[in-house]
Amino acid sequence: MKLKIAVLTGGGDCPGLNGAIKWVTKTALDPRLAAKRPVSFEITGVVEGWKGLVEVDPGDPKSCDRYLRHLDEEVVRTWDRQGGTYLGTSRTNPFNPKNDRSEKLITNIKKLGIDVLVVLGGEDTLGVAYKLHTLGIKTVGIPKTIDNDLTGTEYSLGFDTAINVITEEIDRLRTTAGSHSRNFVVETMGRHAGWLALHGGECSGAYIILIPEYPFDMDVVCDLLREREGREINYSIIVVSEGAKPAGKQEFLRDTKVDEFGHPTLGGIANSLALEIEKRTGFETRPLILSHLQRGGTPSARDRLMARWFGIAAADMIVNEDYGRMVSLMGGEIRSVPLKGIINKLKLVDVAKCYDTERYNGRRSIL
Ligand code: F6P
Repeated sequence: MKLKIAVLTGGGDCPGLNGAIKWVTKTALDPRLAAKRPVSFEITGVVEGWKGLVEVDPGDPKSCDRYLRHLDEEVVRTWDRQGGTYLGTSRTNPFNPKNDRSEKLITNIKKLGIDVLVVLGGEDTLGVAYKLHTLGIKTVGIPKTIDNDLTGTEYSLGFDTAINVITEEIDRLRTTAGSHSRNFVVETMGRHAGWLALHGGECSGAYIILIPEYPFDMDVVCDLLREREGREINYSIIVVSEGAKPAGKQEFLRDTKVDEFGHPTLGGIANSLALEIEKRTGFETRPLILSHLQRGGTPSARDRLMARWFGIAAADMIVNEDYGRMVSLMGGEIRSVPLKGIINKLKLVDVAKCYDTERYNGRRSIL
């Protein structure tokens, strides 16, 4: 029996996606493994995530050329070294109540003869995979998001590379901050989860870290900066998550738009924070929004390794007919969890365990 696997990537891109696609492909098509399996596979990559599967016209060869890619070991050989996603991505929601295209999606999956879908995504993309699973489509999920906010897994692809970018950029910032005796407010991504700001801030030795899980008091921020004045250093680095907010206030939005899953785009807090600090303390303070640099570039060693392990595990799950589940890292081991358990729940920073609410930084007591 031969099964057709389709692979797609959805949501924000990140380093590690190409590696995971490579390892799903290589493992599924591996000749030694194939000889021992009751099934064999062919693999198709879907271009631009759910958008590709909704928009493709299975009867039109031109449309199939546009939205589908044949994948084999030769095609994916070098993919694990590259960031982004060679398949392209979108934030299309086929189950969007304002524009429901789920029927078209399911019809296309059937017409294209797709037996199993491997879906690489965060909460939204995997939420669609879960809905398809409840409708009888065989799905396997692979966690990816630089925000690292998916429940059911300790790791999501892209997070480690993003932390490395934050650390490298702040190292770079320090030389100029020191030369000019200037503070910098560095804004990270992360949506409602503070992992990028917290770990990025801890790795780069930031003086203050502000996260969405603990709304901050502007007086405390300014007091902490004043407390340091004239001591060991002539500047401070303040790392702020895009989703952080002053107590009693709303998150900062980049604009008024929402995506197909109903999410607004966060961003802009660094500008307002830098102005407010300068106004209140008189310390020269500049903003830096790291933005999409955090998602760019080549994958770190950890992301390459996790992409490999997640990709192999996803292929194993298909062989074992373990559908409706997501590959996961738990207690340092690769496992799988039901997709159902990861929907509508974010993995947020546990403030009591990880955050010092007096210093506005990572805790200095771990055990
Ligand atoms: O979820 C990943 C993420 O990078 C968030 O941290 C960020 O808020 C968002 O995507 C940015 O989205 P876009 O790529 O649409 O600007």
